[in-house]
Amino acid sequence: MIDNAKVSQNVHFIGAFDPRIRTFDIIMKTANGSSYNSYVVRGSEGVCIMDTVKKEFSDDFFRRLELLCAYEEIKYIVLHHLEPDHSGALEELMLRAPQAKLIISGRAVMMLKGIIKAEIPYQVANTGDKISLGDKTIEFLSTPFLHWPDTMSSYLHEEKILFSGDVFGSHYYDERLFDDEVGDFSYAFKYYYDHIMRPFKSYVLQALELYKQFEIATIAPLHGPILRSNPQFYIDKYAKWSSEAKFRKHIFSNKMLSVFYMSSYENTHKMAKSVMEGADSIDGIVASMYDLASLDENNMVDLLEESDAVVIGSPTINGDAVKPAWDLLCCMAYLESGGKVGASFGSYGWTGEAPEMLHERMRWLKFRLPLKPLKVKLIPTNEELDACFDFGKEIAEITMGKMVEIDL
Ligand code: FEO
Repeated sequence: MIDNAKVSQNVHFIGAFDPRIRTFDIIMKTANGSSYNSYVVRGSEGVCIMDTVKKEFSDDFFRRLELLCAYEEIKYIVLHHLEPDHSGALEELMLRAPQAKLIISGRAVMMLKGIIKAEIPYQVANTGDKISLGDKTIEFLSTPFLHWPDTMSSYLHEEKILFSGDVFGSHYYDERLFDDEVGDFSYAFKYYYDHIMRPFKSYVLQALELYKQFEIATIAPLHGPILRSNPQFYIDKYAKWSSEAKFRKHIFSNKMLSVFYMSSYENTHKMAKSVMEGADSIDGIVASMYDLASLDENNMVDLLEESDAVVIGSPTINGDAVKPAWDLLCCMAYLESGGKVGASFGSYGWTGEAPEMLHERMRWLKFRLPLKPLKVKLIPTNEELDACFDFGKEIAEITMGKMVEIDL
């Protein structure tokens, strides 16, 4: 890549490339590395810097910046998102351009104090607020939770560029930089959506509504390729992924109740079967059961998303629930949380903590938890299996709104 790739007549890339990174934010794999995109916008009355880079890449950022402008020319610094991969060079930039006005979202204010300990003057931008660089106007859009609460986007009117923040990003390193010149980054674009944006689908749809008012020639995200070939293609992908009906909803409108379980000696399995049958006896519910021993993470995420109610059965081993049960709940990180009905059960031999532990974890994950965990000592009797059946029935009735719900 030539230094300072030209994005449009008055906008240049001044970000940094990180070809060697293989894990991002602990949870994401980055087989092709990534980039920390930042941009210079030049107007007749000054310059605006759009975001910075991860701290260890500051030298690249300042080198590229200095090829395009003097620090005294910088009128504004916009931080669309304060995560350290974008704010790492901010403090140094403010020292070098003390006259510049920092623009952040309202939600970013508390984060700013956590990221930069020194007092930094700033100005808050809300949807519709504008700044002027003389012949250039930048308008701000509040697009929270994409990917942190503080995130916002902005639009450069004269050159029809949407600075989208993390939205439309990819962890994909390629110095050819533009979507029509880089290699195939389709998997990285979707993977990024699934891991960063999928938990905030409703916020994605709100952001897309805001973007509709603008004619967009180029999308300049904070990571990966700059999207200039056909921005609408990428917008449509986000719209589709964020509004897809659940897989089974095209067949019927029933509510889905999933029983996930693991079993050492068939006892928790027997309980799971009775819970499932009890749930399935309620009109409007389709109940299914899944052995956690044979589900991979992708299956778990998809099934959790489909489920209106999630019931987890685990034996207690060494005072704990089994690892796949915890893995299942970790998958909630990729989904919109809150609102699902939850419950837990399990057979145990000695102490039997697992159902309570799962119940507590589900509470933190904002499940609705109307029933106390159900436990059976070792082999369930017929009466105990009847109680499991009734347990499933009750959860199903609550899921259908047929019973008064008390959070336990
Ligand atoms: Fe690329 Fe959420 O920071």
